[in-house]
Amino acid sequence: MDLLSLHYRASRRAEFKTIDDIFFNQELKSWFVFKPELVIDLLRDDDRLIVPDTVANIKMLEARYKRQFPNLIYAVSHIPLLLNGEVHRDIRRGLAEIVSRGRPRILAGLPELMARHIAPLDQETHPEWVSARLSPLVGEIFGIMCDCPVPLPFPKLALTRLFDRFVSLAALGEAEKHAGQLRQRLAETAPHVDQAYAVALLVLGRDSLLGTLATAFHTILSENEGKCFADIEFPDFPPETGVAIAERIATTDITVGARTIAAGDRVRMYFQPISDMSSANKQALFGAGAHSCLGRPISLDVWRAMIETCKGFSSRLISVSCEFESNNIFVMPQFLRTEHAR
Ligand code: HEM
Repeated sequence: MDLLSLHYRASRRAEFKTIDDIFFNQELKSWFVFKPELVIDLLRDDDRLIVPDTVANIKMLEARYKRQFPNLIYAVSHIPLLLNGEVHRDIRRGLAEIVSRGRPRILAGLPELMARHIAPLDQETHPEWVSARLSPLVGEIFGIMCDCPVPLPFPKLALTRLFDRFVSLAALGEAEKHAGQLRQRLAETAPHVDQAYAVALLVLGRDSLLGTLATAFHTILSENEGKCFADIEFPDFPPETGVAIAERIATTDITVGARTIAAGDRVRMYFQPISDMSSANKQALFGAGAHSCLGRPISLDVWRAMIETCKGFSSRLISVSCEFESNNIFVMPQFLRTEHAR
């Protein structure tokens, strides 16, 4: 089985049902964990399972390949999901403040954002959702949150390669270029904004929200071809996530049933099976423990605004088509096209 593409394969739901709860894969040198309760327990065990030291990893690559990645080191040094201990706690606190100050502004802006970006889909016969509608919408939401102008110059899935330990040197070089451009644009157009916090929020939240909206809508719409939008039952919680995997490293031996995750082992945990759990547990789609998501309330505000807008469409959904990007952590449609009729 190709484990690295499992999370974005069309057959993933069926495959999750047949796969072991936890196993070690020699080739990828990682533990793989699929059982939702176990994923949640391990995420909460954040003293014994920590995030990889990405600053050290990038510095090692710099030394080995005689390359410089100053903008990536800057970004990584401020992204809480790549940091442990006190540094992590301090940055997380600062980001939480920005997010909670931004939420009322975003809530106030959502009706107009929906009217401008999402409602026009109802009038089109063959719309494309991801780059034409969802990406500009999510970009503006982050502009409001971080108090910076849009569009910001970074393509989807470029900077989030930082979370992928299988990333190539070439992809890191691309990410370095995009991180530099993003910082330069922020410095020129929003000098009053704390650049480190803005970069951290954009890197952590933009692809997560975009991927979740796009993949969740793909699933709902695919199950409702032929129906009027007004008759589709849109769930209160996204049925899919764009953030498929969390990676950690064990600091000590951890016993899980008959197995032992040894100190130093890598652990790859899957979020997607959590979406089949009861609604209380579904919140864990946004993580658990020290690194749980700071963007959950805003993401759910956006979700609710999206489904209310789509319920108001007067068109009928004829067909849906979508292709997924190849990515080791995220689930992100390259495009999502629908066909509508009246
Ligand atoms: C529906 C969209 C989103 C989903 C499904 C999602 C999911 C997640 C998950 C699963 C984690 C934990 C990852 C891990 O433990 O390895 C996480 C972390 C995080 N998310 Fe989100 N996220 C979303 C949107 C956002 C948004 C919009 C923001 C910004 C406002 C955001 C900010 C963060 C931050 C700052 C962290 C790291 C916290 C830390 O390390 O202390 N997320 N997210």
